[in-house]
Amino acid sequence: MTFRVAVAPLLLLSGAVSAQVAAPPPPAKQAPDAGMPALAPWDKPPIKGVWSDATQTPDARAKALVAAMTTDEKHTLVFGYFGTDFPISRYIAPKAALEGSAGYVPAILRLGIPAQFQTDAGVGVATQGGAKVKRGRTALPSGLAIAASWDRDVARAGGAMIGDEARRSGFNVMLAGGVNLLREPRNGRNFEYGGEDPVLASSIVAQQVIGIQSNHVVSTIKHYAFNDQETDRNTGNSVIDHSAARVSDLLAFQLAIEQAKPGSIMCSYNRVDGTHACENTWLLTDVLRRDWGFKGYVMSDWGAAHSTVAAATAGLDQDSGFPFDSKPFFGRPLREAIDQGTVKPAQLDLMVERILYGMFAQGLFEHPLQQQPIDMVGHAAVTRAAAEAGTVLLKNARNLLPLTASAKRIAIIGGHADKGVLAGGGSSLVYPAEGNAVPGIAPTFWPGPVMYYPSSPMAEIQRQAPGAVVRYADGNDPAAAAALAKDSDVVIVFATQWAGESFDVAMALDGKQDALIDAIGDANRNTVVVLETGGPVMMPWLDKVGAVLAAWYPGTAGGAAIANVLTGKVNPSGRLPVTFPRGVDQLPDPAVPHSGDVVYREGATVGYKWFDAKAFKPLFPFGYGLSYTQFAGSGLKAGVANGAITARFQMRNTGARAGAAIGQIYVSPVAGGWEAPKRLGGFAKVALAPGASKSASVTVDPRLLATWDEAGQQWRIAGGAYRVMLGTSAADIVQTVTVTVPARTMPATWRAR
Ligand code: BGC
Repeated sequence: MTFRVAVAPLLLLSGAVSAQVAAPPPPAKQAPDAGMPALAPWDKPPIKGVWSDATQTPDARAKALVAAMTTDEKHTLVFGYFGTDFPISRYIAPKAALEGSAGYVPAILRLGIPAQFQTDAGVGVATQGGAKVKRGRTALPSGLAIAASWDRDVARAGGAMIGDEARRSGFNVMLAGGVNLLREPRNGRNFEYGGEDPVLASSIVAQQVIGIQSNHVVSTIKHYAFNDQETDRNTGNSVIDHSAARVSDLLAFQLAIEQAKPGSIMCSYNRVDGTHACENTWLLTDVLRRDWGFKGYVMSDWGAAHSTVAAATAGLDQDSGFPFDSKPFFGRPLREAIDQGTVKPAQLDLMVERILYGMFAQGLFEHPLQQQPIDMVGHAAVTRAAAEAGTVLLKNARNLLPLTASAKRIAIIGGHADKGVLAGGGSSLVYPAEGNAVPGIAPTFWPGPVMYYPSSPMAEIQRQAPGAVVRYADGNDPAAAAALAKDSDVVIVFATQWAGESFDVAMALDGKQDALIDAIGDANRNTVVVLETGGPVMMPWLDKVGAVLAAWYPGTAGGAAIANVLTGKVNPSGRLPVTFPRGVDQLPDPAVPHSGDVVYREGATVGYKWFDAKAFKPLFPFGYGLSYTQFAGSGLKAGVANGAITARFQMRNTGARAGAAIGQIYVSPVAGGWEAPKRLGGFAKVALAPGASKSASVTVDPRLLATWDEAGQQWRIAGGAYRVMLGTSAADIVQTVTVTVPARTMPATWRAR
């Protein structure tokens, strides 16, 4: 979006985001005009044809419908409007758009083509900041928190819940499914994505999309591709070796798209190899269509289109979010291009066919929208369970957690924990039904408002510990906080990092919280730190505190979820979906995210792969997380069938509480030759009663054993011995077996099943 673009550069790497808000650009003199055709009114029943027959395939229906459409109708479908008034541009959203929504594409009544009502995003039904009325909805924990659950069922249930809210709110397109690989821990949007590993991220995001689409709502996997930082996101140029790309970021997209079959893909703001993603033939046609066989449509991010002929020819199907592009590229300019022959009518047909395919495949024609009440109570239970599943216990010295009845004086410090829990900022922000628990924190508009969901961890802790005295200090006065800590049996510090769209962050807590925690740790070693962050942060105070919980942005029931984990009502079973580095000097590029060319020198050596390759010891490794019980993995066996490795193993709960273990299967060629010593091949989450034991099996997709042969445009598996490892994290391998895998090449179009 134009306005978002104007703000972004001023907010980079800010500990000081609060103070810096750009002045809006002067109002445009004229209301923008897209030059779209006005369709003749139609008050008769829609004309019927092959496309009306739900027993036909989506392909056949889409083709038949395109053949019945007029040119003006085709143009109508490839052009999307912002759904919210935008006074700076004198833009008034179409009357039929839903108030405060992200996007709208008009219906074609003559043929019964429904309007597309588009809403953000991954944690629930968002409302645009500029909207006068905010719709109160349920927010899931952040995408990264869901990935931390390592639980496909949790991801699918969350997707199904927010997809239901989308449909009941009148939306049939949800701009959800962020799967950009977490390469840069300082990326302000990491919280919207699925972490640093292609297998984990794709498995989780695919299930979320499947859940959303189970409501006959198109989901939109995004932001394709290499949009891995917010700094200079509109013109920045990501440069990566194509072989490395295929086994890292692109693999995350490929596996997610293959599993979930999203109706749509959103191309990103940035350039890739010098060409904007939304007019990049390599990304949109060679990789997405030719190799992956994607049949839905590509929509541009809001303001990410930069041309008409180049974009249409490269594979962009729908130009979104008018008026945020510098011109309405798929408005009047596309009609002119067709008239002049620079875009062929057959290309327009193809664009329309893909949009209709996505709509037919998800049942949009058969399931007309109707706004309906939402089961807010039932949905609160879904988001609370997701937050509980994604909470990661990082440290628990002397079994400080769960809290015991002997904790009679409990101090709660900071993070507005007396009122609520933090959310991430930007277009994905969901407004809660009860309003912001801590209104007024700057920035109060884009990419704000800084939002605290009214779900107070403190209130819930007090409720669950009626006999304890629970006292609160806001942490603004470290000496007062330390004095309260000293006078308490246990101290729980809530530490925050606000991240959001359009700015990057430091890999640290905001403001002076590190010094605060340090002082509290000095005052009382029974200190628990609860982190509410967008991603990894450094913890210079780690040795001084007893316990640390990563709660991420935990969603609208986050306070109850955190309390349930602290009190032991819930046994934490999350594992890190991202490496927590000790410091920025351990990152591939320690310098802050910068403008211009962003050269991915580390190639596919992302996250734990980088740490493995460099033999760096992180603060906490990928895959790591503690429990209130203990597990033992054993009996690892692996076999090879049809070129795929299957590993089987047992997990046993050796402790006294029920809990869930996550068996992580890593693979590694004995002869080396990969970007890193090992890759995650798959994982299984196993719920276990005390003393119980279960077996699990994990099949490793053959592409996880391959490298990409760019010259031959194929996957290539080197024959030989491969280690198959059972780990509790990337840094803790408990058992290894070796198998022999035959040499093999697979075409670019190869897919599982
Ligand atoms: C974001 C997208 C979002 C769109 C519509 C853009 O600024 O990058 O993720 O879907 O706005 O709000």
